[in-house]
Amino acid sequence: MNTIRFEEVSKRFPGLEHPALCPTSLSIEAGSFVTVLGSSGSGKTTLLKLINRLHQPDSGKIWVHGEDISQAAATCLRRKIGYVIQHIGLFQHLTIAQNIAIVPEILKWPKVKIALRVDELLELVGLEPGQYRERYPRQLSGGQQQRVGLARALAGDPGILLMDEPFGALDALIREKLQDELLAIQHRLKKTVVFVTHDVQEALKLGDQAIIMHQGRVQQFDTPLHILANPANEFVSRLLSAEDPYRRFALVQAGALASPIPGGMAHQAHDGIPVIRDAQTLNDALKALLQAPGDYILVENAERSILGRLTLDALKQQARRYAPHQAEREDRALC
Ligand SMILES: Nc1ncnc2c1ncn2[C@@H]1O[C@H](COP(=O)(O)OP(=O)(O)OP(=O)(O)O)[C@@H](O)[C@H]1O
Ligand SMILES: [Mg+2]
Repeated sequence: MNTIRFEEVSKRFPGLEHPALCPTSLSIEAGSFVTVLGSSGSGKTTLLKLINRLHQPDSGKIWVHGEDISQAAATCLRRKIGYVIQHIGLFQHLTIAQNIAIVPEILKWPKVKIALRVDELLELVGLEPGQYRERYPRQLSGGQQQRVGLARALAGDPGILLMDEPFGALDALIREKLQDELLAIQHRLKKTVVFVTHDVQEALKLGDQAIIMHQGRVQQFDTPLHILANPANEFVSRLLSAEDPYRRFALVQAGALASPIPGGMAHQAHDGIPVIRDAQTLNDALKALLQAPGDYILVENAERSILGRLTLDALKQQARRYAPHQAEREDRALC
């Protein structure tokens, strides 16, 4: 089932030579995590703001949960959609608890239910409720504030989360931690997430699917692996450095390339040969292979049973297999 559907939606701002969004049709499935990546000014934020009616389309229709949003009251629509932006937008004069409680208050939840919800959400985003509930935003670090922003967006239990470069201002380590936590939250809560980012690695890591935008047009909308293997045009190929095997290796799990251990070699199983988990990436496998005495490593599952071996040859074949053919199509021109 799709949660968000665009049918020939376009948007042009007055005084701008080019449309911010050319006529666009797309569907986003319920429960999927879709990242939006592209050059600056390519229409990513415009696409997002059309979904919660912060912008009105010039033409076309948008459906959210099967409802034509032009017929819905904007406030009702926005209660079903969490929105997180880069500069958080927490109210400085309200405590953390009060910030998170904004939507439940509007929905007139009972006080006790709101208090429980605030604590539940603080725990979900990794902030100890007793320590943070009564603080003010200025007493928190950027990363902590961003966690509160996420908690606030989740407060009314919306089915959809729109996130516009939410981790853009954070340093690499905190960003990575929040990415992992967001993925864990998404797996648990099964929200539909549309997540705008400038960061290629972030888009490929987080997205079940990625939308690549350029000059107001969706250039490609597919799984990260498919986009890397088959970039639609020169722009996508360049943006993603699709020829870079490390990009693809970061998206494939070692378990996928494990092969049976030939009979005579089984006894050597742990003889100084590195062992990695099946869920680790091919980049982890490559690092382990560089330290291996021979040209293979072992792959185990979560129960620590050896599943097989992963050879250097298998990695080389994988690198070749996904080498993108020269993109033949030109970058799509403006509409
Ligand atoms: N409110 C507005 N009024 C006029 N022009 C606008 C408005 N919002 C966006 N634009 C223009 O529309 C185009 C698309 O903007 P948008 O904010 O969607 O880009 P973006 O892909 O999010 O860029 P960035 O990565 O820099 O955030 C840009 O040319 C921008 O200048
Ligand atoms: Mg933007």
